[in-house]
Amino acid sequence: MASKKKTATNMDGEEEDIPMAEIEEEEEATIEDLPGVGPATAEKLKEAGFDDLLAIAVMSPTELAEQAELGEAVSSKIIQGAKKLANIGGFLSGSKLLDRRKQVQKLSSGSSALDELLGGGFETQSICEVFGEFGSGKTQIGHQLAVNTLMPLDQGGLAGEVFYIDTEDTFRPERIAQMAEAVGMDPEDALERIHVARAYNSAHQMLLVDEIKRMSKTIDVKLIIVDSLTSHFRAEYVGRGMLAPRQQKLNRHLKELKQLSDVHNALVLVTNQVMSNPGTMWGDPTKAIGGHIVGHASTFRLYLRKSKGGRRVARLIDSPNLPEGDAVISVVSEGIRD
Ligand code: GTP
Ligand code: MG
Repeated sequence: MASKKKTATNMDGEEEDIPMAEIEEEEEATIEDLPGVGPATAEKLKEAGFDDLLAIAVMSPTELAEQAELGEAVSSKIIQGAKKLANIGGFLSGSKLLDRRKQVQKLSSGSSALDELLGGGFETQSICEVFGEFGSGKTQIGHQLAVNTLMPLDQGGLAGEVFYIDTEDTFRPERIAQMAEAVGMDPEDALERIHVARAYNSAHQMLLVDEIKRMSKTIDVKLIIVDSLTSHFRAEYVGRGMLAPRQQKLNRHLKELKQLSDVHNALVLVTNQVMSNPGTMWGDPTKAIGGHIVGHASTFRLYLRKSKGGRRVARLIDSPNLPEGDAVISVVSEGIRD
C-alpha cells in the first residue's frame, strides 16, 4: 500500500494523479511479517478480509479466530504482533496527532450554510451520523455527498470514489445523474465511480464492509455511505432481550467502518431514523435508534428536521470541536443547496 498512487478522472475527463494520504507511507510492514504467520495463515487472513495490520490489531482474539477460522491462541499471538508492527499499541505525541489531523480533508455538502456549520465541510477520518424522521433528507444528503466526493479538491470534492451500502433500496442512479449534471459532471462517469450494493440483512450489511476492505485496494475510496445504518438491525433484533446482541453487532460494524475511514483518510456517512417517543415530556420527542453506541462512535451527528416550504433544518450535535448550531438547507432538483 505504501506507494499506492491512484488516478481519477477530473471533470474535463482527463486522468489526474491523486497523492495518497501520507498516513499510509509509514505502513511498510505487511501481514506476512507477523510472527508465526506463514503463507497458509496469511492466505486465511486475507480471505477473511484482513489484509492490513491495523485491521488485525484492533480485533479481539475471539473475533479474529471466528472470522479467519484460526485457533484462539494463534489469533491472540497474531494480534499482539500486529499491534507492535502497526505501531498503534502506545500513545502518540500531540504533534504526531496534529500531523494526522492535517491530513483531514473536508467535503462540501453543496450548501455553504451546512459547510459552515461543520467548520468547512464533512471531515475525513470520521463517522458522521445523519438522523431524522422519514423524508427529512438523509438519503438526499447521501446522494449529494456521493456526487461531491467525485469532484476535484479545489471544488470542495475529495477526488475519490464512493461505496454506497443501500439497506432500504432507496439509491437512485437517476438522482445521481441529475445532481452530477447540475455541477457540470458527466453523469455516466459519475455513476461509474459510485459502487452500490444492496444489503439484504444486517449480516450481509456487515459482510459488505469486508468487501469494501478488499475492493479499496484498487479503488481510491473517499466516502462510504451506509443508508440506513440501523434499519436491518432494528427489524431483526426485536425485544428487550435482543438489545445487547444488537448493540454488540452495531458496535463492531461501526468499529470496522471507523477503521476504513482512518486507513483511507475517508469519510463515513451513516443515516439513522428517529423513534417517536411520546413518553417524553421535555426535550426532543424523537431519539436516534441505536442509542449510545451509535452516538459515541460518530464523530459528528446531524439532526435533520423538516421545516416550512421544503426546507430542512440541520442541527449539529455532539461535535468534538465545534459549537452546536443550526443550518437551513433545501432539497431542490439540483440537489442540496442553501
Ligand atoms: P427515510 O429514508 O424515509 O427515513 O427518509 P430520508 O430522510 O432519507 O428522506 P429523503 O432523503 O429520501 O428525502 C425525501 C424528500 O426529498 C422528498 O420528500 C422530497 O421532498 C425531496 N426530494 C427528493 N428528490 C427530489 C427531487 O428530485 N427534487 C426535489 N425538489 N426534491 C426532492
Ligand atoms: Mg432514506
